[in-house]
Amino acid sequence: MNHQGQTAPVLTIDGPSGSGKGSISKCVAEKLGWHYLDSGALYRALGIAAIKEGVDVANEDALAALIQDIELEFKRSDLGHWAVFLNGEEVQDQLQTEAVGNTASKIAVFPKVRSGLLAKQRTFQIAPGLVADGRDMGSVVFPNAKFKVYLTASAEERGKRRYKQLIEKGINANLSSVIQDIQERDERDKNRSESPLVIPEGATYIDSSSSEIDEVVLTVLDLLENTKKL
Ligand code: C5P
Repeated sequence: MNHQGQTAPVLTIDGPSGSGKGSISKCVAEKLGWHYLDSGALYRALGIAAIKEGVDVANEDALAALIQDIELEFKRSDLGHWAVFLNGEEVQDQLQTEAVGNTASKIAVFPKVRSGLLAKQRTFQIAPGLVADGRDMGSVVFPNAKFKVYLTASAEERGKRRYKQLIEKGINANLSSVIQDIQERDERDKNRSESPLVIPEGATYIDSSSSEIDEVVLTVLDLLENTKKL
């Protein structure tokens, strides 16, 4: 049951940057007909808001106050795809740069930022179900989720995937600095005191270093079916 008394099932998919969580979570959500929460997008959008509003990204109280002032929504854009809107403006294209990812990871260390975004994340638990993608979905946001996955891959493989995505989007990138950024972000995400990236209790560990997305999607769907039978 969630915090509004709802019982919609939740599948949490946690893991480090570039593990394929985003693509796999979206695909699994689509196949199940469930909702999808991209929790990283909330941290990224807050980072964009801070930069736009000139809020110091090292000032925890100012960031917590900013959360109260902004409106963050996930809805369909005019082109029909799901997108993040900040104060009514679509910011989806701005979310994916490495600079925004790094800002998100810096502000995500602050307890007041994490607690400020917690209630928003829990509102996504609605019927017929939710696939929640992030770092602390199974450990903090939805600790009672029925289905939990921890998805990872080697830092080098994750760096190569991220590099390919950036190049395909026409964003200039350098492979060794992308791998270095990923390693720095891993360190920050795993070593922060508040909601660090951990393998949640009860999660199934999947290493996707040598698997295609489709294979991992099938593994996750099988896991769901098998868990339902328990
Ligand atoms: O998943 P994504 O790369 O979009 O997340 C950006 C950053 O936001 C991560 O590096 C992490 O520091 C932070 N984050 C988090 N908790 C989440 C999701 C993302 O701390 N649930």
